[in-house]
Amino acid sequence: MTFNPLEEKGIPLEKQLRSWHDIVKRPFDKHDVDCYSRTRQILMNGIEVEAWNFKHNFARCCPDEDVRKLLALSHKIEDMQQTTVNWMTPACQTVLETTLGYEQVAVDLTAWLAQNEPDDYVRETFNFGLLEDFDHLYRYSQWAYMVHGIDPDNILQGMTDVVIGRPTQNHHNDNIIRLRKHYDRTTASPQTKVNIYTLVSGEQQTHNFYAEHGMMYANDDLRRTYGEICDVEEEHVTMYESLIDPNETPFEKLLLHEFTEVCTYYNCYKDEVNDKLKQIWEEFLAFELGHLQVAIDLLKKHEKRDPEEIIGDKIILPCHFETQKEYVTNILENEIDKRHDDNMGYTTIEKLPEDWPSYLAQEILNGKGAPTEQTIRLIGCSTGMDIVTAEPKLRKKEPELLKRGLEKKAQATNTVSVEDYEEFVKEKPMEF
Ligand SMILES: [Fe+2]
Ligand SMILES: [Fe+2]
Ligand SMILES: [Fe+2]
Ligand SMILES: [Fe+2]
Repeated sequence: MTFNPLEEKGIPLEKQLRSWHDIVKRPFDKHDVDCYSRTRQILMNGIEVEAWNFKHNFARCCPDEDVRKLLALSHKIEDMQQTTVNWMTPACQTVLETTLGYEQVAVDLTAWLAQNEPDDYVRETFNFGLLEDFDHLYRYSQWAYMVHGIDPDNILQGMTDVVIGRPTQNHHNDNIIRLRKHYDRTTASPQTKVNIYTLVSGEQQTHNFYAEHGMMYANDDLRRTYGEICDVEEEHVTMYESLIDPNETPFEKLLLHEFTEVCTYYNCYKDEVNDKLKQIWEEFLAFELGHLQVAIDLLKKHEKRDPEEIIGDKIILPCHFETQKEYVTNILENEIDKRHDDNMGYTTIEKLPEDWPSYLAQEILNGKGAPTEQTIRLIGCSTGMDIVTAEPKLRKKEPELLKRGLEKKAQATNTVSVEDYEEFVKEKPMEF
C-alpha cells in the first residue's frame, strides 16, 4: 500500500469549519442501507465521541496556552464531525433497531480485530469479549421481535448469527478482575495500538447509547435488560482500555487518537458502497490527516520524538466489516466456558475457586433474577416459541449450537437450563 499517512497533508485544521447545512445532512434510508454501511456509521460516531472527549480531558490538564488553543480549535471540529456522522441515522430507526446495529458492530468488528491482532494476549481478550457481545445480540433480538415485531435480519441482513453465547447473566464481575495487563508502548506494534483504540471507542459508545436510550421504553423488563447490558459494556470499556499502556504521554495519546481516526476513515472510505456516506468518509479522512499533522508537530516540538516510532509509516485497516459467522462459531464452540481469573489471565468455569471475587458481585446483581434471562421466559410466553429456533432457514447451524450453548449454560454454577426455567421462575419469581 503506497498511502503513507505521515506524508499526506490533508485539509489544514483552520479550514475545517462548515455550514450547518453541511454539518447536518439528509439521513440514510433504513430499508435500503447495507448493514455494514450502518455498522461503519455507528463505529465512526464512537470514534468521534472518543476523540472529542479525549481532547477536552487533555485541555483540562494542560497548562500550555498554545496547546490549549490548538485543542480548542480541534475539539470543536471533532464535535461537528460527530454530529454529521451520528445524525445520518434516520428518525424512524428505532432504539432497538439501532441497538442491533451496535451489537453487530461489536461482534463483527471484534472478530476482525482478533484475526488481525499480532499480540496473543490481546487477541485472547478480544475473543473473550466477542462471545459476550454475541449473547447481547441474541437477547436484544428477542426484544426487537417482541416490541416491534421485526425479524433481527431486517437489520443484520443475515450476516451475523443470532444465537445464545456466553449467557449475559455470567458477564458480571468484580470490576477489578476485568483489568488486563497493558501492552508496552515501546515494543507494541502500531496495529495493536490502533486495534485497541478502535475497540475502546466502539465499546464506550455502545455503553453511552444504552445509558442514554434504555429508558426510552416503558417495559420494565426491557429497561432492566438495557441496564444490565449497559453495565457489561462498562466492564468491556474497563477491560479493553486497561490493555493500553498508561505510560503513554498526552502528546503520544493525541497522536494515536488522530492516527486511529485516519486509519478508520481510510478503511471506511475504501469499503463503502453508499455514495452519501463515502463522500463523508473521504472528506473526514482529509480532515483527520490535517489533525494528524498538528499532533506530529506537537510531539516533535514538546517531546523531540519521531512519530514513526509510535505509529509506524503505514496505514492500518482496523475496521473492515464482513460476515464472521464461521470465526465466531469456532470461538463459541471452544471458549464459551472461559472466565477471568484473579491474576489478569483466563481460566474455565470448572477451575474457578469458591472464593472467586465475581461470585459475590453476581450474587448481588442477579439476586432478584437477571433481566436478560427473563427475556427468554417472556419470548416463550408471548409467542409460544423462540424466534431464533423458529427460523432455521436463516440460521442453519443454530439448533445444534443452541443445544450446545444451553448445555454449557446449565453447567455454569449459577445458571439453569431453559427446560428448567419455568420451574425455576415458579419457585423464585422476580420481585418488582
Ligand atoms: Fe474526528
Ligand atoms: Fe454488547
Ligand atoms: Fe461490548
Ligand atoms: Fe481528529
